[in-house]
Amino acid sequence: MKNFKRYTVTSALPYANGPVHIGHLAGVYIPADIYARYLRLRGNDVVFIGGSDEHGVPITIKARNEGVTPQDVVDKYHTIIKKSFEDLGISFDVYSRTSSKTHHKTASDFFRKLYDEGKFIEKTSEQYFDAEAGQFLADRYIKGTCPHCANEEAYGDQCEKCGTSLSPMDLINPKSTLSGNQPVLKETRHWYLPLDKHEPFLKKWILEDHKEWKANVYGQCKSWLDAGLQPRAVSRDLDWGVPVPVDGAEGKVLYVWFDAPIGYISNTIEWAEQNGKDWKKYWQDEDAKLVHFIGKDNIVFHCIIFPAMLKSHGNYILPENVPGNEFLNLEGDKISTSRNWAVWLHEYLVEFPGKQDVLRYVLAANMPETKDNDFTWKDFQARNNNELVAILGNFINRTAVLTQKYYDRKVPSLGELQPIDQETIAEMAQHKERIESSLENYRFREALKEAMNLARLGNKYLADTEPWKLIKTDEARVETIMNICIQLTANLSIVFEPFMPFTAQKIRQLLHIESLGWEKLGQMNLLAAGHLLDEPFLLFDKIEDEAIEAQVQKLEATRQSKIDSTPAVEAKELVSYDDFTKLDIRTGTILEAEKVAKTKKLLKLLVDTGIDKRTVVSGIAEYYNPEELKGKKVSILVNLAPRSIKGIESQGMILMAENADGSLSFVSSEKEVNNGSEIK
Ligand code: 2FM
Ligand code: ZN
Repeated sequence: MKNFKRYTVTSALPYANGPVHIGHLAGVYIPADIYARYLRLRGNDVVFIGGSDEHGVPITIKARNEGVTPQDVVDKYHTIIKKSFEDLGISFDVYSRTSSKTHHKTASDFFRKLYDEGKFIEKTSEQYFDAEAGQFLADRYIKGTCPHCANEEAYGDQCEKCGTSLSPMDLINPKSTLSGNQPVLKETRHWYLPLDKHEPFLKKWILEDHKEWKANVYGQCKSWLDAGLQPRAVSRDLDWGVPVPVDGAEGKVLYVWFDAPIGYISNTIEWAEQNGKDWKKYWQDEDAKLVHFIGKDNIVFHCIIFPAMLKSHGNYILPENVPGNEFLNLEGDKISTSRNWAVWLHEYLVEFPGKQDVLRYVLAANMPETKDNDFTWKDFQARNNNELVAILGNFINRTAVLTQKYYDRKVPSLGELQPIDQETIAEMAQHKERIESSLENYRFREALKEAMNLARLGNKYLADTEPWKLIKTDEARVETIMNICIQLTANLSIVFEPFMPFTAQKIRQLLHIESLGWEKLGQMNLLAAGHLLDEPFLLFDKIEDEAIEAQVQKLEATRQSKIDSTPAVEAKELVSYDDFTKLDIRTGTILEAEKVAKTKKLLKLLVDTGIDKRTVVSGIAEYYNPEELKGKKVSILVNLAPRSIKGIESQGMILMAENADGSLSFVSSEKEVNNGSEIK
């Protein structure tokens, strides 16, 4: 295995259009922080990079909806996100943003080098343009009817009702969300990264040289590569982002997924400038190990597109690993920003002050490493009360209290060892290697479990040796036992540092020590006999049912408000029976149907009403083809005053049931009845 001199650890740059939630934390920031802290604790040269992703269409849409500028949006959320990460102890060396000058220059130069070297292909294609707004429309700026489910509010990239991915050209009756007008097709020029050309390299580099990548990551890469790669546009017609640095490219910016990963480099540059470092050593030197922490929706960008960009550029190293995680659900449902189905970090920090490590612990223990996982408040409470309080806190507190009681808080000396002491010390020594192996292979849950096992070992040792009984008969033996317990506590201060840094700090405070460094893990004699400990204090406290209930209620209220906000189906005003009987509704059969010229919605129908055969114009063309209507049984209001619709006299009205999505279907008799049967 290669020995690296430096580590470049990145964590996906969150979009600055909303705060961070527990799904982001469990998937990306907690594992990345554990890894970075572990590496530092081992004395490695590490730069841990974070930052806000401040470009892209959703930010412009949010700004528009709120009547502010995109810069206002990102300023607001960048501040919230940055502060909440700091408060949770995510130990970024730098947390910057892609709207910074340094980033604009870095991304622009990167593009320009590839452009100058002919690494892009240039293509002209037709895209929707809003003539009134005078701009091309990003997919999300176009709405229309979904060809699959008839939802009239489908976006140009996706129908949120049936979940189908769409392209704007798929939409029926497309409308610009800027002006409401029908957009026109217009030619536009863009630059494409020819991923197809990089395919042979990527296949070898990933499928052969990186078989050790996590199965979920490797598997996703393999299916992309097996399907064959296509050139990808790296520019967009948009006025928010890094301008394309090419003459004649006014009004075009780099695609957000082109500039965002370059943000890792820009942020390293900023950090290096502020700290007297050479950024290139972390990005362009083979001695540096680059690791990207991401969620599963980012795999293709970090494993295929960004490496293809870096390779094209030529000066950069490629990631050694991309430990992508699956998703965390919340109380059995997918976390959703738009439905507010989330536990927001900035809110948690206010509602559970001083409990950063509880969240860190629970999220690390439930990390969706190999499959989607679920966060529940009950589990949060159980892990706090049954593990942090009852195992870790309990062992350390008993050690501190007994040392105070028997030895005035001074570390007693280690005497002769009995077999149980030797076994415990040997067991303690074994943890280091096991935890290292788990951490280095990105198995953080396993590593955390091992760390907790060390505290379990302490509890078992105390329970087996019972110093509180021995103190009356064998004081020398108790000195040895308590010395071992104190050394074990010092070990816990090391092993929990990557996972729960606030707690590790408290343990050090309790022991009156500075950070010991990872290499001491597993060792005895970390605290000399006579060393004075602090007054005992509790590391964790029980979380009561009320606090959990309040959180569950809060989520329940979210669920309820969604239900309440669906349009209420209210009955119309009362009518008299006489009024009702004025309506003459009959069963009938459609004999002929044809489209009404120059309309999208109308069909001209010839209906046998049992009384006569008459023409009715009906607005059902979006839901039925004329060909399928011959012979259809219908209900028809026959005494509706005739109306002229598009120059055709319509004599009556066909009754239709309207679904919540606006789609229409015929209302007909359940059993076979003759045409002209009265409906009453
Ligand atoms: O999915 C996201 O939230 C993106 N903003 C991640 C970007 S990661 C990197 F490339 F910057
Ligand atoms: Zn649909």
